[in-house]
Amino acid sequence: MWRRDKFKFPPGPYRGLKGWSFRALRQNPLEMFSELARCGDIVGIRVVNFRNIFVNHPDLIEEVLVGHPRRYIKGRVLRANRHVFGEGLLTSEGDFWLRQRRLVQPGFHRARIAAYAVTMVQYAQRMLEGWRDGEERDVHQEMIRLTLQIVAKTLFDADVAGDARDVGKSLELLLELGADFRRTLFVPHWVPTPTNLRIKREIAFIEGILHRIISERRACGRDTGDLLSMLLHAQDEDGSRMTDQQLRDEAITLFLAGHETTASSLSWTWWLLAQNPAAEAKLHAELDEVLVGRAPSIDDLARLPYTANVITESMRLYPPAWGLARVAIEDHELGGYPVRKGMGVAMAQWVVQRDTRWYDKPEEFRPERWEGDFAKRIPRFAYFPFGGGPRQCIGNSFALMEARLILATIAQKYRLHLVPDHPVVPLASITLRPRYGVRVVLESRQPRVIRNLSQTSQTTAQTLSAD
Ligand code: HEM
Repeated sequence: MWRRDKFKFPPGPYRGLKGWSFRALRQNPLEMFSELARCGDIVGIRVVNFRNIFVNHPDLIEEVLVGHPRRYIKGRVLRANRHVFGEGLLTSEGDFWLRQRRLVQPGFHRARIAAYAVTMVQYAQRMLEGWRDGEERDVHQEMIRLTLQIVAKTLFDADVAGDARDVGKSLELLLELGADFRRTLFVPHWVPTPTNLRIKREIAFIEGILHRIISERRACGRDTGDLLSMLLHAQDEDGSRMTDQQLRDEAITLFLAGHETTASSLSWTWWLLAQNPAAEAKLHAELDEVLVGRAPSIDDLARLPYTANVITESMRLYPPAWGLARVAIEDHELGGYPVRKGMGVAMAQWVVQRDTRWYDKPEEFRPERWEGDFAKRIPRFAYFPFGGGPRQCIGNSFALMEARLILATIAQKYRLHLVPDHPVVPLASITLRPRYGVRVVLESRQPRVIRNLSQTSQTTAQTLSAD
């Protein structure tokens, strides 16, 4: 136990960082966390009455997530959203969480997700059938609809094409309103404010669709081998099955956690590629060389290293989960400072993954930096878009495979040019997404067969920039 008179709170902006305020944290958290990092690797911040520690060094982050995960529960904002996620994987804790994680995990095993690859490519191709050369589109909305349909089909064997637009919008709104910590922390969700009533309506709409999917499956009793079947048939040691409420909580969690993140990561990728023609040309060259115009499959992924590096680098600069938060449930020490029960601990991928200690010219989009053994030469938690430790993202491999396959499918057929003057700015809600979407003009392209990539690699940028 830490004695009050010995209590040592890490230095931080409460001792006078210029411009620091609760409002600034609400309005521009990315900038505020970047500013906090300039105070050191472990920083004390007070947000109204809550004491928090902001941890900015990979080793300390590892200590929190991997070293002593049982000292913490999820952060206040996420827990204040339990009326949305219920006791789903993202928000549940302790033995209940562990039981659910064990039930859901087989749905994400290697062999199982390999089978999802075909659906991912087919759905991306189906989307492209509606695209036309010269057309203007919001590629973020396109990615949201696509990834939502993929998660519904692969995990629940449900076709939500007809509802995808409305469901996507509802889920997006829930994530955005859920991240407003002034509202979530200080206005209980049951108070009938206009915003809370709106949230209630959106939840009811999503629940309606989920209940339809679940009851149709219960009624037919068929085991289609997907995650929903697994959950429906899963039995606890005492023989009990999951209730409809538990199913609803897992389903809404997987819908929410499983599509917007991947969609945002792809939207940022298109935006970055459109501004980096040399990287775009290299990507096209690799796809043309390996795929020679045919649709990608899971077996191709190992032969598409540049495609993988494009996604890795995009998620470094624009991590869809831009920050993680925990609350301590016991007194302990971290980085030489006492952490008391009830204190918040925050970590930000947005900040660590742009730190000059680990990345040369961190603001630049350079997929090449991941070539060779670069990932092994930086500390484990200098790059952690999927978190780490026991609460690491369960959909990690699913998401990486999906992002690479979608990128490969689309980039073979189209170049995406940014619409001039359309503002593309990050909105740090629970996820990091482009606030006003990413408006692009489509240019169809024909894959070019390049016989010897190594011969052309030095001149790739010049020869293909006119592609
Ligand atoms: C690029 C895409 C994705 C990113 C960046 C991402 C990121 C994350 C992160 C950082 C966490 C840990 C949160 C924490 O420790 O507090 C997490 C948890 C989780 N993610 Fe993802 N995720 C992605 C895609 C997916 C997909 C495709 C699914 C499911 C289909 C999914 C389902 C989940 C679930 C259920 C959890 C909670 C796991 C647990 O606590 O046991 N995610 N994700």
